Amino acid sequence: MGELSYQDLLALFGIGGAHPGGIALTEAVLAGERLKKTTRVLDVGCGTGQTAAFLARTYGCQVTAVDLHPLMRQKAQERFAKEKLPVKLLKGDANKLPFPSGRFDLVLVESVTVFTDLAKSLKEYARVLRPGGILLDLEMTAERPLSAKELQELQGVYGTKQVPTEAEWIGRLQKAGLRDVLAVKGGTVASALPDAESGEGVWPEFNPSEGIDPGIYKIWERHQQVTESFKHRLGYRVYRAKKGTKSSS
Ligand SMILES: C[S@@+](CC[C@H](N)C(=O)[O-])C[C@H]1O[C@@H](n2cnc3c(N)ncnc32)[C@H](O)[C@@H]1O
Repeated sequence: MGELSYQDLLALFGIGGAHPGGIALTEAVLAGERLKKTTRVLDVGCGTGQTAAFLARTYGCQVTAVDLHPLMRQKAQERFAKEKLPVKLLKGDANKLPFPSGRFDLVLVESVTVFTDLAKSLKEYARVLRPGGILLDLEMTAERPLSAKELQELQGVYGTKQVPTEAEWIGRLQKAGLRDVLAVKGGTVASALPDAESGEGVWPEFNPSEGIDPGIYKIWERHQQVTESFKHRLGYRVYRAKKGTKSSS
């Protein structure tokens, strides 16, 4: 591995539910959708596959999952094999999804788009959805526009070029051709952090690799510092949007 990134940290520690609110928020959001055995779902940037496994196990949906990181895919594949879940896992880039247009009823994205080229990835989500299909995208959201200095600090840790506000995310989703765009759930990072003292809250899952490069702890420390100092300036939102049908668009 060359220089380690935040994505490497998540992969090496095997962090599942690597988004504010974790799997509990995912479950609550999905409970609001009409999911059936025939529903074709794409989990973009599936990480260790916690959500994809939940969808296959709980709803029996036809789940496809993609991620760019080979170690994430390896850990996801191990999970699906262990649980004997028929999730189709592929190497895939959110900026250029390896699927034909109109392939999915639901595209689910959790804490991924902010790391991508927004102009490309959002259009890709819209492209692979069938007319009338739904996008659910949970993303880091600035509580107010961030200064260039603040963005630089975040970029140094996460490699993100931008952290849009809620209004900016909604505008971007609309520009990608999606309709009925709403932020359906969310809050500040502070509101979603588990309490280290009492242990209360939603904790992520860990599946660490053996012999982790100690260099990774530096990234962990910087992530912890930034989380603490930005916890009121940064938040998360679940954006829900629809691909228009020909007659409605
Ligand atoms: C913060 S983690 C979230 C993982 C998972 N969705 C979850 O909530 O636990 C971000 C994930 O997005 C993946 N990722 C980053 N950029 C990507 C891209 N352009 N295409 C596909 N996956 C990407 C990373 O490898 C990582 O698994």
